[in-house]
Amino acid sequence: MLVVAFCVSSAVAQRPTPDSTIYRNIDAQIAKMTLEEKVAMLHANSSFTSGGVPRLGIPELVTSDGPHGVRLEHGRDWRTDNDHVDDSATYLPTGVCLASSWNPQLGYAYGAVLGSEANARGKDVILGPGINIIRGPLNGRNFEYESEDPYLVSKMAVGYIKGVQDQDVSACVKHFLANNQETQRGQVNVLMSERALREIYLPGFKAAVEQGGVYSVMGAYNKFRGQWCTENAYLVNNILKGEFGFKGILMSDWGAVHHTAEALWNGTDLEMGSDLLGLPYNKFLMADTVVALVKKGLIDPQAIDDKVRRILYLMYKIHKFDKRKPGAFSTEAHFATARKVAEEGIVLLKNNQLLPLNRSTITTIAVIGANATRPQSEGGGSSQVRTRYEVTPLQGIKKIAGPIKVSYSPGYEIARNAVANQALIDSAVEAAKKADFAIIVGGWTHGYNNYSWTDNAFDAEGVDKPDMTMPFGQDRLIEAVVKANPSTVVVLTGGGPVDMTRWIKEVPAVLEAWYPGSEGGTALAEILFGLVNPSGKLPMTFPKTLAESPDHALGQYPGDSTTVVYHDDIFVGYRYFDTWKVRPQFAFGHGLSYTSFGYTDLTVTTHGQTAVVSLTLTNSGNRAGAEVVQVYVKQNRCTLRRPEKELKAFEKVFLQPGESRKVAITLQKDAFQYYNDLRHAWVLEPGSFTILCGSGSDDIRASQAITFR
Ligand code: BGC
Repeated sequence: MLVVAFCVSSAVAQRPTPDSTIYRNIDAQIAKMTLEEKVAMLHANSSFTSGGVPRLGIPELVTSDGPHGVRLEHGRDWRTDNDHVDDSATYLPTGVCLASSWNPQLGYAYGAVLGSEANARGKDVILGPGINIIRGPLNGRNFEYESEDPYLVSKMAVGYIKGVQDQDVSACVKHFLANNQETQRGQVNVLMSERALREIYLPGFKAAVEQGGVYSVMGAYNKFRGQWCTENAYLVNNILKGEFGFKGILMSDWGAVHHTAEALWNGTDLEMGSDLLGLPYNKFLMADTVVALVKKGLIDPQAIDDKVRRILYLMYKIHKFDKRKPGAFSTEAHFATARKVAEEGIVLLKNNQLLPLNRSTITTIAVIGANATRPQSEGGGSSQVRTRYEVTPLQGIKKIAGPIKVSYSPGYEIARNAVANQALIDSAVEAAKKADFAIIVGGWTHGYNNYSWTDNAFDAEGVDKPDMTMPFGQDRLIEAVVKANPSTVVVLTGGGPVDMTRWIKEVPAVLEAWYPGSEGGTALAEILFGLVNPSGKLPMTFPKTLAESPDHALGQYPGDSTTVVYHDDIFVGYRYFDTWKVRPQFAFGHGLSYTSFGYTDLTVTTHGQTAVVSLTLTNSGNRAGAEVVQVYVKQNRCTLRRPEKELKAFEKVFLQPGESRKVAITLQKDAFQYYNDLRHAWVLEPGSFTILCGSGSDDIRASQAITFR
């Protein structure tokens, strides 16, 4: 059984107050407010706060980025010197690494660390999780997001949100909706079918509201069907607040409100942004103009009250007016959670019996690659974290390697427009020749300058990757090193795939380490040396080449300067690769272990419109390890085309060598439904379905057909 230490400050007994009591208090407060006081609550009054009502004891609402750690302080006006502030937080592995753990309990633990640290730093809202669908490999913010699959996104997001909110801090799920590229994020209009919206892009947000009970949602910068997302009547009023019954606040992304009247009518509750926008806060679109419009009788005052009510509701839910739980900051326990997430999130992609490295037989290792010594916590844009420490890959390897001699050569240079550097390659090759093993640490970084987010590239906010080719001439380096020493491991960092076609056949072992947080180097070394058995699984498909990716093969990416049409529709990620029978480099759900697992005794029984899937999982190797049992559903015949298969359940199971466990999973009706946009409804079309269980989307171990009449 998995035991996750939640690693947060001591719990205080839950004090649930019924919503009816909360609303009674809120209405009493609203009754005492002037119009000006109400409107002061609807917009930012500093870079990360919005207004309170001091006369009535209502404090400001304090927000902070971001998805994988409490952001360093920028001060009220962004320029304030904050160097004296202790803001060195726990740097958690980024979203995509968390999702690779396929462990929602770990999602909870992760959220609890964030919530606790945010609370300790006096924040009310932590601006995460980022759950935009990973539609293609180039999006600069994929490292912050979770998956191409809406079911996996939902499961991980719900754990994260509950973890945060149990610490008396609001999570803020973002970016609602379809901010799936950074290229022209502030102007592009996203067009997609209703079916793609319902099946792919909405489920994570729906789960965040209905199952996670999230108190705040951030609108995206882009447009959806012609209207800005933050003030989009269909998305916000009809779906989020109407269909999903969301009671919290819809805040804008920073500077994402465009029109006062549309924001007021279409559901925006809070306009965020900083004075970097060049406007004093009272000139924001939801500030003085609103007062004037209400006074002229052009806006119903009740619309204002509704927004204030929602903001106060959030404040009550996080116990802003009474005693909040104590938070804790940058504790050993928090760093231990960061390490656990990295241990479970790093993915072993390929292993021709090279790993784990045996510490008793190796004398020398050559570590190669500028990413091996590069701290990543402060890069990437708004998700930057200043941390107490970050164990780099080289430090982690040296720590765990014991008496083994570890040499280091950079191999490539991280600099704007840097190409292959022959002198650096030559010295890396020399080092590799002299060593028993070479470990190349490469892939993406947060760009050339970790500390400025205007100069970031690759995995960064505001800019997408130019292509899937490894930067700085790394392909040439890998080719040369593996030729010099065939016992070479490639460790990739970054938020997504690289084109590996030039070297993947020659390299015997490859790991995807993502951005694994403060303890990432430790976790990586533990996996390399077999102290930890890898159990991460890819939350996204790794295509061989960019042209194979469905957003390029079927859809539009990044569109023209004004519009992007999602012709790839519901065929995102493995839904495309499986259906079109394109073999990717590494499939969704793929991830190797140092042990092996057997799947036996599969039975599937139907009960009305549900099915119970049961199987026996056995650890048939000689090391303890964890397997993610993945359950996919295929509809064998259907009026509308459906993907070859879709993930509908999973369970991560930890087993000792030789141990077996029965896994039983109930698939509810919605596991068999699809969205029929001709009928504008979710439908369960009777007929034959196949339940496929396996270790990856391309590694199905047992299947059984069932019929719904
Ligand atoms: C980002 C958000 C972030 C906000 C505040 C925006 O630029 O898109 O994700 O939370 O800034 O820093």
